[in-house]
Amino acid sequence: MQERTTTLAPIEYRLEGVSHSFPGAETAAIQNVDLTIRRGSFTALIGPSGCGKSTLLNMFAGLLTPSQGSVRFRGESLTGPAPQVGVMFQKPALLPWRTTLENILLPIEVAEGKAAARQKVDAAMELIETVGLGGFAHAHPWQLSGGMAQRAAICRMLITEPEILLLDEPFGALDELTRERMDAEIQRIALERDATVILVTHSIPESIFLADRVLAMAARPGRVNQIIDVDLPRPRTVDSVADPRYVQYLKDVRTALDRGHHD
Ligand SMILES: Nc1ncnc2c1ncn2[C@@H]1O[C@H](COP(=O)(O)OP(=O)(O)O)[C@@H](O)[C@H]1O
Ligand SMILES: [Mg+2]
Repeated sequence: MQERTTTLAPIEYRLEGVSHSFPGAETAAIQNVDLTIRRGSFTALIGPSGCGKSTLLNMFAGLLTPSQGSVRFRGESLTGPAPQVGVMFQKPALLPWRTTLENILLPIEVAEGKAAARQKVDAAMELIETVGLGGFAHAHPWQLSGGMAQRAAICRMLITEPEILLLDEPFGALDELTRERMDAEIQRIALERDATVILVTHSIPESIFLADRVLAMAARPGRVNQIIDVDLPRPRTVDSVADPRYVQYLKDVRTALDRGHHD
């Protein structure tokens, strides 16, 4: 598989002087962030609780307008959720009365109606197979483990074929092994589709395993403190963690986070 060439890829997002303060808060949730995200890149946002990771992600998602500065998506000022963007939050939030398949088809049904959703059944079944949920298409959420529900949520995000994936600590609640499998799955999907991914995590190893660029954030006010470029070949595998550079990146990100903590 080829290394992705993201340096010259078109710009997806451009943030300039972005700040956000929630009403009544003493310090800014996000202060003065400048950032360029290119197509096909994989960015990880990492930092302590409350440093503004979700706030930033919600801005990329078009769900939150910053109180200052500009967020441009493909050259245009972002005014709401864009159809090319799929978002996955920490909790899978599947509707309990719907089966796996029906949950996955929900975004299509909401956007385009029941007939359009029926047309997507084959595609949904394929996704279900891909993430290893074959046999559970007609199960209800209470019959799924946490990891299975997360995989269903991934399918629900992918069914609309998003070009950009925004993931807010999607696997935080999973056991280590399941999480590693999901990470590998996300990498595979991103490479296959040349998708742009922004992942919020507070796992240093996960950030390095997945990202081309790790943004180490600090809190009070929330800001991007340091950017660590991760130059490891793809696809990354269990062997990547044996690469001496991987170990160095672990240290680099840890140092950046410590520094942010003591500022
Ligand atoms: N809807 C909200 N109203 C008020 N304050 C908020 C809201 N959402 C987040 N905050 C505050 O903004 C800061 C950043 O929050 P958040 O982006 O959720 O951080 P993170 O995702 O990094 O844990 C925190 O101090 C949090 O308490
Ligand atoms: Mg958060």
